[in-house]
Amino acid sequence: MTTRKKPEDLRSHRWFGVDTMRGFGHRSRTMEMGFAREDFAGKPVIGIINTWSDTNTCHSHMRQRAEEVKRGVWQAGGFPVELPAMSVGEQMTKPTSMMYRNFLAMETEELLRSQPIDGAVLMGGCDKTTPGLLMGAISMGLPAIYVPAGAMLRGHFQGATLGSGTDVFKYWAERRAGNLSDDDWFGLEEGIARSAGTCMTMGTASTMMSLAEVLGFTLPGASSIPAVDSNHQMMASRSGRRIVEMVWEDLTPAQLCTQEAFDNAITVDMALSGSTNAMIHLVAMAGRAGIDLPLERFDEISKKTPVLCNLKPAGIYLMEDFYYSGGLRAMLAQMGDMLNLDALTANGKKLGQNIEGAKIYNEEVIRVRSNPLSETGGTAVLRGNLAPNGAVIKPTAAEPHLMKHTGPAVVFSDVDDMYKRIDDPNLNVTKDSVLVLQNAGPKGAPGMPEWGQLPIPKKLLEQGVRDMVRLSDCRMSGTSYGACVLHIAPEAAIGGPLALVQEGDMITLDVEARVLRLEVSDEELSDRMSHWIAPEEPYTRGYGRLFLDHITQADKGCDFDFLHAGGPTPEPKIY
Ligand code: FES
Repeated sequence: MTTRKKPEDLRSHRWFGVDTMRGFGHRSRTMEMGFAREDFAGKPVIGIINTWSDTNTCHSHMRQRAEEVKRGVWQAGGFPVELPAMSVGEQMTKPTSMMYRNFLAMETEELLRSQPIDGAVLMGGCDKTTPGLLMGAISMGLPAIYVPAGAMLRGHFQGATLGSGTDVFKYWAERRAGNLSDDDWFGLEEGIARSAGTCMTMGTASTMMSLAEVLGFTLPGASSIPAVDSNHQMMASRSGRRIVEMVWEDLTPAQLCTQEAFDNAITVDMALSGSTNAMIHLVAMAGRAGIDLPLERFDEISKKTPVLCNLKPAGIYLMEDFYYSGGLRAMLAQMGDMLNLDALTANGKKLGQNIEGAKIYNEEVIRVRSNPLSETGGTAVLRGNLAPNGAVIKPTAAEPHLMKHTGPAVVFSDVDDMYKRIDDPNLNVTKDSVLVLQNAGPKGAPGMPEWGQLPIPKKLLEQGVRDMVRLSDCRMSGTSYGACVLHIAPEAAIGGPLALVQEGDMITLDVEARVLRLEVSDEELSDRMSHWIAPEEPYTRGYGRLFLDHITQADKGCDFDFLHAGGPTPEPKIY
């Protein structure tokens, strides 16, 4: 039987409920904002962590949504307070939003810890915001519910449907090949992003919002609702109502974040053919909960999980279609016995209860198990002398003939070198070459940016080439596609074997055998290693320095080493 908290058990009681000089200050200063004692006394204080900002275009509706969350909190007898946090918008944040995921995680944890908060509503959606918010909330351990931003509407141009990212990459290749006029290019620019909300392909944002739901952090069905649908507003106020109850019930992230729940998340990631970035984020989130997720677990699950979601970049539809076809609940119901249905979720019910009766309304968009988009999952984990600690590839979004390939390396020492030479007509490259980008990993770039979909050299684009084998220690956008081997660990900048690849070395990729091999002898590699010089680190101070000193490699989730699960962090003293 669940024991309900009493008002004096609330964490915020230490701020508001005590007859001390500090208690006087907390109450009188809340009254300064026009709230009467009865508005907040003895009520759960709900911190709404909002990643809205004018530079996070995907969250432009979240100022309004925060009001809808507050409405729900008030209705349920809570006291809402909005806590703005770094918005980490994918488009504008440089050098890469990934550099600031851990910053947001730390900010989330410390915002909750340092203030009189009993429960949290986490408002995010644009790529790194979801893992950042959840990592912080898991570490803090207070009841928390996640309100996903939701995806934007489908893009449109000249009668064609456009998908965020995926179609940008496609049409940019055509423009570089000389096939697209200025008018068409500018028309695409105006038609691709038609409303508030995140990228509407199955990129990192849609993947992570879906996985947050699978992990139990949202109300059922929340992650599939388009950002501008009135159901999204209803979901926001329902989440506000629910978090108040979660506080009284003391339903904390620790009860949601089990090994079974993470296995569910990996399974659904594979069935979605989700973003490769999700692997890094899941490892980091699980790390906060004290759960180890080796890359092999992803591969094991991938091999037995069919892809059921027919969304770009692996398929052809978009999130709006997914929602109208029944959304995530319908896909989970179709997966049924592949999931641990006893996993607990934010509404206090089990995952199995939440998907009861969910139906697929369009079997082209959400495939049934007898007609999957692919028999096995969306991501494969590779090993070999070039990636001793692993690398990943998304075969479902690549040209199948490249999945077993040997070719000579064309090596770029960093991203500047790549952009300087990639379109040089004299570049010694053919369609069979393997493009290699070094020093673009967690420490090398730094921040492991989404440079992993290396551009096809212009002269090959003009010959009609649209995919090649490409290798790097960075990531690629979840909306990207191509035979791109990513997240190579250890990375080049710390002396991983990727640093030793030289022009013309033969490289073998064999996805079925899960192999990535540099066809160079061990003796030659150790000789090269003895001459290797580490690249200069760009930051000597500030957050960049902290990042370089503590970032872990891709296979460990790129969290800071000191933020992994450990002993308890003390509550602040209040005197
Ligand atoms: Fe925000 Fe893609 S840019 S989700």
